Amino acid sequence: MYADRVLSGMRPTGNLHLGHYHGVLKNWINLQHEYECLFFVADWHALTTHYDSPGDIEDNVWQMTIDWLAAGVDPSRATLFIQSRVLEHAELHLLLSMMTPLGWLERVPTYKDQQEKLTEKDLSTYGFLGYPLLMSSDILIYRANRVPVGEDQLPHVEFTREIARRFNHMYGKEPGYEEKAEAAVKKLGGKKAKLYQELRTRYQQKGDEAALESAKAMLGETQNLSLGDKERLYGYLEGGGKMILTEPQALLTEASKMPGLDGQKMSKSYGNTISLREDPDNVVKKIRTMPTDPARVRRTDPGTPEKCPVWQFHLVYSSAETRAWVQQGCVSAGIGCIECKQPVIEAVLKELAPIQERARALTDDPDTVRNIIADGCEKARELARETMRDVREAMGLHFG
Ligand code: TRP
Ligand code: SF4
Repeated sequence: MYADRVLSGMRPTGNLHLGHYHGVLKNWINLQHEYECLFFVADWHALTTHYDSPGDIEDNVWQMTIDWLAAGVDPSRATLFIQSRVLEHAELHLLLSMMTPLGWLERVPTYKDQQEKLTEKDLSTYGFLGYPLLMSSDILIYRANRVPVGEDQLPHVEFTREIARRFNHMYGKEPGYEEKAEAAVKKLGGKKAKLYQELRTRYQQKGDEAALESAKAMLGETQNLSLGDKERLYGYLEGGGKMILTEPQALLTEASKMPGLDGQKMSKSYGNTISLREDPDNVVKKIRTMPTDPARVRRTDPGTPEKCPVWQFHLVYSSAETRAWVQQGCVSAGIGCIECKQPVIEAVLKELAPIQERARALTDDPDTVRNIIADGCEKARELARETMRDVREAMGLHFG
């Protein structure tokens, strides 16, 4: 069995582009060789912001699944599924909502940011506030301990860790555990007992890892405790009791080096993308008309590659030799911009050709895609059911 379990999700945005490929998908494809991986389409998450226009979601789910597979996500290595097809996520979300402090949700940075940014939408909804908790449920239900995400999602993983800790603390206790631990704290003696409680609170309420380390160090040096009490106090620091839910670690996905056609981040909303299924003629057209260093007005004007978005593409696609040719040719006006773009055009076309061929085959064979997802959902459900059995029992719902 694998030691680590990776889980990640993507909202169904429809057709993916080169930014997704170089940022997220290549990373997933590498991870599937090293870890047990679960990748899913977060269609409920799409509804938290697009609840008023659900019409596109289903098609987007299938198109995105095709892009994952075409890019090389391998269903024999990774479990692929759709969030809304595994109802257990919703049950866990509901049960966790009982013990989630409102303040924790209101303090998640994306909550206010997105509300302010997406002014055309009313995001003062219950569902949108619960976005991070739904994401926590996605992660915790598989006891995934590695979660590859971009920087923007780090606060959500941190939030998930806090929820897991709180849950284990609240429901993971053996009978009498708390009393025994409190008695052991008293045995530390006045000053040390007070420090222990302070450090414990700092760790449990704010996730302060340094406080946890100091408390452990202090226990290490303590002489007047029995082994049992010492163990109890170590456990009590981190919540104690049984670990019903696993605290996940974020695996930060490096920001893609792949910029958009205009040099900004590649994003549908900026209209600067090359989609994975972009028609080859369009690829040529889009790269040919890409802006270059504005200093190169005429062919004879020298330029600076660092001021040109085409150079960023060379950094992704070109060999050292080609890059040297660009540098030399650009600063001396030895080459023209159209000439400079040619190797980039060829490299992008070469990269896309096999992806597009696989996407075509999958589009012509929707049953295959549906079967892959149906199998994935079934596997995911089995794992989710195991966790839910423990969660229900811990929360006093023993109805069989
Ligand atoms: N919120 C993530 C995003 O917008 C998508 C997501 C939902 C996710 N649930 C997740 C990512 C669980 C990782 C793990 O990108
Ligand atoms: Fe950009 Fe190449 Fe033109 Fe220089 S020669 S400005 S790097 S496209």
